[in-house]
Amino acid sequence: MPLLAIETTCDETAAAVLTRDRQVLSSVVASQEKLHARWRGVVPEVASRAHVERIIPVIDEALSRAGTGRADVEAVAVAVRPGLVGSLLVGLAAGKGIAAALGVPIVGYDHLAAHLYACRIAHGAALTYPCVGLVASGGHTSLFLVHGPLDLERLGGTIDDAAGEAFDKAASLLGLGYPGGPEIERAAAGGDPRAQRLPRPLANDHGRLDMSFSGLKTALRYLVQPPGAAADRPRPQGRELADLAASFQRAVVDSILAKVELAIERSGCDAVAVGGGVAANTLLRDDLEALARRRGLRVFIPPRSLCTDNAVMGAIAWERLERGDNDGLTLDVAPGTDRSALHRRR
Ligand code: KG4
Ligand code: ZN
Repeated sequence: MPLLAIETTCDETAAAVLTRDRQVLSSVVASQEKLHARWRGVVPEVASRAHVERIIPVIDEALSRAGTGRADVEAVAVAVRPGLVGSLLVGLAAGKGIAAALGVPIVGYDHLAAHLYACRIAHGAALTYPCVGLVASGGHTSLFLVHGPLDLERLGGTIDDAAGEAFDKAASLLGLGYPGGPEIERAAAGGDPRAQRLPRPLANDHGRLDMSFSGLKTALRYLVQPPGAAADRPRPQGRELADLAASFQRAVVDSILAKVELAIERSGCDAVAVGGGVAANTLLRDDLEALARRRGLRVFIPPRSLCTDNAVMGAIAWERLERGDNDGLTLDVAPGTDRSALHRRR
């Protein structure tokens, strides 16, 4: 009997039906990209309203694709943190309604731990613990020492913008669309990553595992719109655009890689698990593979469809259900609690 997992932390409305042996019976993701594109970023109120419209059709679609009736659902899992409060509440309300109606357990799970669990779904038991975990998404960029699927210790991360957020803002500065990561990646093809000197803030600070992306974004802004330049200065095009996008992408990836390497050195781990939307980036994936080869490490990166938000990674909830957990109907959301993990044992 399967688990129904629900994910509404940000701007994807997603549901998946997952068996106890971590098989994916169905996965439905309704993206809100088009709704947010004109603002080039997620508008929280728009996101939660769209979740309200979509959540039941998305769940029904996931059940029907899995060939599972509602009555067959054995348990419900909901991503309850971190995320946008209005978005989280929609998934939680839907999950509670179904769990209450069916009289089945409901468990909450941590979205960041789930991003890393996508590696477990994709690579199975080959991913062993402890390992270093990197989550790079639109809302978060954090490094963890991962003691187990539910046991994450935060080592560091961005002190300002998330890497995905930096991609989104850079794309906007360059006149590209939303979400910015794939747009920058496309625009960077054929560009020279050394064409522009852009900063890698904190990358050479070997004393800390923190990262920073906001100064990089500002540096790009000054290249695109130098101080004193006419406000109607045309946006970069052609070769100039490709070089700027490639240089920016290179700087973000270098900044992340420097801290992954430091986390490896400090922790003594020989494995890295990677998750989050930015992990869909080809340069980051290739460079992580190259780092792994160079240092004799194992690197685990999910397929792209499991990097961006989805409910398949809600299979992490089996780890709680298997130990008998049931949060019950008092389960609540915890929007801003990204600095530690929900399930960390004390
Ligand atoms: O994990 P995710 O789907 O949502 C959050 O939890 O935030 O990540 C979305 C972020 C966006 O900022 C998007 O621009 C970025 O992931 N992203 C990428 C790529 N695909 C998505 N960044 C760089 N390269 C990509 N190919
Ligand atoms: Zn995410």
